[in-house]
Amino acid sequence: MRVLFVASEAYPLIKTGGLADVTGALPVALGRLGVDARILMPAYGGLLDRVEVTGPARSLGEVLPNIRARLVPAREPDGERELLLVDCPALFERPGGPYLDEYGHDWPDNFLRFALLGRIGAMVAAQGALPDWAPDVVHASDWQAGLTAAYLWLWGVKRPATVFTVHNLHYQGIFGREILPMIGLPDWMFSVEGLEFYGHVSYLKAGLYYSQFLTTVSPTYAREIQTLMGGEGLHGLLSSRASRLQGILNGVDQADWDPAADPHIAAPFHHDDLSGKAACKAALQREMGLAQRPDAPLFGVVSRFVEQKGIDLALAVISTIVDSGGQIVILGSGDPGLEWHVRGAAGAMPDSVAARIGYDEGLSHRIQAGADALLVPSRFEPCGLTQLYAMRYGTVPVVRRTGGLADTVIDVDEASAGTGIVFDHPDPSSLIGAVRRTIALYRQGEAWQTAMRAGMALDHSWDRVAREYLGLYGEVLHAD
Ligand code: ADP
Ligand code: GLC
Repeated sequence: MRVLFVASEAYPLIKTGGLADVTGALPVALGRLGVDARILMPAYGGLLDRVEVTGPARSLGEVLPNIRARLVPAREPDGERELLLVDCPALFERPGGPYLDEYGHDWPDNFLRFALLGRIGAMVAAQGALPDWAPDVVHASDWQAGLTAAYLWLWGVKRPATVFTVHNLHYQGIFGREILPMIGLPDWMFSVEGLEFYGHVSYLKAGLYYSQFLTTVSPTYAREIQTLMGGEGLHGLLSSRASRLQGILNGVDQADWDPAADPHIAAPFHHDDLSGKAACKAALQREMGLAQRPDAPLFGVVSRFVEQKGIDLALAVISTIVDSGGQIVILGSGDPGLEWHVRGAAGAMPDSVAARIGYDEGLSHRIQAGADALLVPSRFEPCGLTQLYAMRYGTVPVVRRTGGLADTVIDVDEASAGTGIVFDHPDPSSLIGAVRRTIALYRQGEAWQTAMRAGMALDHSWDRVAREYLGLYGEVLHAD
């Protein structure tokens, strides 16, 4: 089976969050099951220099009005991922991130950049953009790839099968109606039965409406997005498509996230010998300038600083942690106000609170390895990967009962095989209660070790997840 992934990021080439982890890992795991999977993504600035080009670039001509592009087949060096890169320097060769400029503003032409991605996805799928390869299934992710299925629909194409995954319903790709001629879509698609959403064009809705099958990244989030509370205005459409919507939990890349063989961390450790973890904790305290206190419960946070993630709630529990003799390390970036508060807390209590503002893959591993507990106080969380990484590293997750957090962490008070602390409400008092329970458990020693080991024993391998997707692709291919 041939599967074309269409996505705006893929680890290790470009990553802003969990979407990259998934797009990087799932095609490789499917490859192990015999699937020929390729990832179509933009050739962002400098990317072409970091890959091994495997064939001649194909000129696709004027893909959108006045926008010419080429398709470059490539492979990451020494890696297993087969790539198809959208080469259009006018749209992708620029400083800053994939979605935002260096000042944190959306690129004003994002509607064109990601229409191009979707359009080329559809061309590879159904117009022979590659002479020797066409997919059986097109699997697109999030709003940036949402138009892929819309172009296929427009062209009346029934095959390949289309699967669309929602990694986060909050980001919708909303633009004015006037863009339609610029992205080559007719006005008749601007309809409730189409890609119109409250008077605007929604790339996310296009994906949800025109794809044959929808998935999201946990069973609980699949239910939540069908409700008024969690549906971000799309609950009606999603519940009308409930029979074609499934939640499939993400996996963990077990080679990248392996405490027994992680090049980023101070000492290896594993389920049967946790001694290296103490060395990782001491190294993390040293690296972050915290007091060297082996017995202090050390909390970690690794997150984007956005409303979703509840960083404001984490800030509200710092004094509880410090007053109880604990410490906290925070890594992340995003909202400038939150960055300012996090820096301020670290500056005020440098022995107990440490912060690194920015994106640092190595430090994220060292926090997972060296912290005792990981705080994930999200308001909503489609799946969440950091709590899964934490459990692999014997770090006890403290999570809000929502989305994939609810599906992956079992509260220690609710089951003997409990793996973490789960709290119900996204408010400071609920999180303070959870932090107090965490510290009490930590001080019990043996019960803490039981929770650590229960988390480490879980199997969230991508191989299992890939089998689920493969089963789903088969079903969609055989559906009408
Ligand atoms: P989301 O995709 O919503 O950000 P996930 O938990 O699914 O949330 O994935 C986040 C991914 O990004 C994880 O791999 C996490 O380790 C990583 N990450 C987030 N912030 C940072 C950061 N500042 N530095 C390094 N890695 C980060
Ligand atoms: C999104 C979600 C996150 C999920 C990730 C990968 O960014 O916010 O919960 O884990 O996608 O699916």
